[in-house]
Amino acid sequence: MRPCRLPVSASEPQPARRTHKRRLLEYALGLPPTCRLHASSMLFFDVKMQNRLPDGAQHYTGHPSPGAQPVCTMPRPIQATIHTAALAHNLHRCRRAAGDAKVWAVVKANAYGHGIERVYNSLRAADGFALLDLDEAQRVRTLGWRGPILLLEGVFEPRDLELCSRLHLWHTVHSDAQIDMLAAHKTLQPHQVFLKISTGMNRLGFAPARARAAFTRLQALPQVESVGLMTHFATADVAEPGLAGAWQTFTHTTADLPGPSSVCNSAALLRHPHIASQTDWVRPGIALYGSSPDASEHTAAHWDLRPAMSLRSQTIAVRDLQAGESVGYGALFTAPHPMRVGIVACGYADGYPRTCPTGTPVLVNGQRSRTLGRISMDMLCIDLTPAPPPQPATAHAGLGSEVTLWGSASTGQVLPIDEVAASAGTLGYELMCALAQRVPVVVE
Ligand SMILES: Cc1ncc(COP(=O)(O)O)c(C=O)c1O
Repeated sequence: MRPCRLPVSASEPQPARRTHKRRLLEYALGLPPTCRLHASSMLFFDVKMQNRLPDGAQHYTGHPSPGAQPVCTMPRPIQATIHTAALAHNLHRCRRAAGDAKVWAVVKANAYGHGIERVYNSLRAADGFALLDLDEAQRVRTLGWRGPILLLEGVFEPRDLELCSRLHLWHTVHSDAQIDMLAAHKTLQPHQVFLKISTGMNRLGFAPARARAAFTRLQALPQVESVGLMTHFATADVAEPGLAGAWQTFTHTTADLPGPSSVCNSAALLRHPHIASQTDWVRPGIALYGSSPDASEHTAAHWDLRPAMSLRSQTIAVRDLQAGESVGYGALFTAPHPMRVGIVACGYADGYPRTCPTGTPVLVNGQRSRTLGRISMDMLCIDLTPAPPPQPATAHAGLGSEVTLWGSASTGQVLPIDEVAASAGTLGYELMCALAQRVPVVVE
């Protein structure tokens, strides 16, 4: 585990000129009066607090600035790691499944919690980026992307169209109201749009019976240069009802209509590559981040996907329980026999689901173990009791042992995020998106 290191200086600056924030941090770190935080530490502190990258920075390494003197360590050892090689591998995997179709890398929800800026370099081999709002689009342009960007829900109000023009965004059109906005929009930039057709999801999109009229209307607008055709499957991740009916509805509705088509999310792409290859663009999201798109049926390893995010922490206390003693809020877990319990610096305020019951898997120094009792805000408890052979031994685990909550341990063993999600009654999507701002993130 790479600790966050802050440069400190024995000499400067003068106490009177130190900010309140710096004095607070020195106090919180327990620095002796002769030892002062260097001014540059405050940048690291701010970065850590906001968990945002400074402009232009690839990632926060926590390295002390040149010439810095002694170092001291930030108090909590939890850390998320974004694995760039895994992202690139997963994108390549999606591309292989897509045949000749182009790939939108879906980076909405801040790249599913990974951070758009952190994943950008690994995903820039995609043909385009698909995302939710103008802020995300602006960030991708700021990173230097000049290719296509698709707004998956299109614009929300007329003035958004102006930014679409300026940022050269493609946008989804799913309603008459959005066509009205386009018709009233004064632009010198003709727009590229994707008409969304509802084939069973019934959230956004034109009903099949109304889709052709919407297409005709869009095509007649001088503001529109090209109209693509898209749908989003409701049940691509399961065999029944699957997507055969929705795909048939889509092909029937769009027969003879010109324009590029896009229908596949990760599940449709990996489970039905023959459909993907009949379309022009695919839109994988979750597969890029290494979680299974159909976790109830297949693991990420089955699809040859690698975890792009690891959440690791350490044991910050170890205690021995006697038989009959319990641990954690609500005394939900009682030791049936003498047990060794590790207290881990990770809780629901870090994004770990409070709903995980006793038995949720963790890796301790790369070996599988389990959570015990209730997850609390900043801590969770795990079983360190040495298991009898041939069970994996956690015997050598103790204070400061690495605990992998999901993703890969530093020794290489993998705990799929989907296993933890299943234990919490949810999906990998939710866990990665919920990674808390307070968790420091490194990119490797
Ligand atoms: C319209 C649309 N396309 C593609 C995706 C990507 O889906 P997935 O992450 O399941 O691949 C989403 C995500 O919800 C979406 O809303």
